[in-house]
Amino acid sequence: MVPMVDLKRQLEDIRDEVLSSVRDVIESGQYILGKKVEEFEGRTAEYTGAAHAVAVASGTDALHLALKAAGIGPGDEVITTPFTFFSTVEAILYLRAVPVFVDIEPDTFNIDSNAIERRITSRTKAILPVHIFGCPADMELIMQLAGKHGLKVIEDCAQSFGASLYGKKTGSFGDAGCFSFYPSKNLGAYGDGGLVTINDDAMASQIRLLRNHGSAGGYIHNTLGFNSRLDEVQAAILLVKLRRIDEYNDKRRRKAALYSELLAGHVACPAAGSEGIQHVFHQYTIRHPKRDYLKELLREKQVSSMVYYPIPVHLQPAMAFMGHKEGDFPEAEKAARQVLSLPIYPELENSVVEMIAEIVRSV
Ligand SMILES: Cc1ncc(COP(=O)(O)O)c(C=O)c1O
Repeated sequence: MVPMVDLKRQLEDIRDEVLSSVRDVIESGQYILGKKVEEFEGRTAEYTGAAHAVAVASGTDALHLALKAAGIGPGDEVITTPFTFFSTVEAILYLRAVPVFVDIEPDTFNIDSNAIERRITSRTKAILPVHIFGCPADMELIMQLAGKHGLKVIEDCAQSFGASLYGKKTGSFGDAGCFSFYPSKNLGAYGDGGLVTINDDAMASQIRLLRNHGSAGGYIHNTLGFNSRLDEVQAAILLVKLRRIDEYNDKRRRKAALYSELLAGHVACPAAGSEGIQHVFHQYTIRHPKRDYLKELLREKQVSSMVYYPIPVHLQPAMAFMGHKEGDFPEAEKAARQVLSLPIYPELENSVVEMIAEIVRSV
């Protein structure tokens, strides 16, 4: 079966480095908040161009702690997209804030930035764009709107490590960028992990406190915090992969270009982004009117595919309390009916892309 990602295959190239980096940690006797996490934070800050990076336990925690440090609390409205992984919205709800959805652009699947201003009220405190599937959202307009209305911007970069707009990396535009190192992400750990990139010194200090029980050490607790630290073993693994992230993302882009070349005119291919946009193709997601039939056919031919996401967030059972109904966000709902993500990873062979494209074209 062709998998969606092949992490065993990736390990073949980096096994020695990973094992030696992990061995360093095990032999160091320091497993939480040690040298590897510190080095990883330094390197990711430098890589993304943000002033600070604080490693945390997951992408969900990154969002939760960033929103909290940005001062989001009960009753505050946070504008976001209904076409995302559920945890984008969970993080808002953890703080008893209110997610206010804006529909998506059909070609990029990202929040429609031109529709945001209409949803801004006196209670709006933040905008939370998601760079979905690795395609940067329209940060230029989002930052303009935030400046005009005095709003915070928290970027969900869980799927966009390395993506950029006019040379500026996602995660360096807003007040905070929230990354996930879930194993299948473009930069993936061998367990859970996350990171917040931040430009403001005080906000970075606050997130450092929040991830460690509100303490800077010495059993003095300045605020109520959480246990949300990236561990040293994960940092050791991530450091090895971080050295190769540009190569990994370049290879993904090349696979995506090949898919699009072979599929153009047959199905709706994902927008590669306009000039100046570097997509990192965490997913290669097409639209197909016979999506479920195509998925089944691929399965019969031993090819994995996934529906990200079958139900938009506003229609999830857990969101029923908000009273949204079908038709509220038609583009997100249509995308949920039509999308299909095809296998994409740096090690995927071109011949396999060609074979998959041939199956898709046959429908
Ligand atoms: C868009 C998006 N936001 C948030 C998350 C949450 O990250 P994690 O699974 O590391 O908590 C994920 C991934 O899982 C994601 O894809």
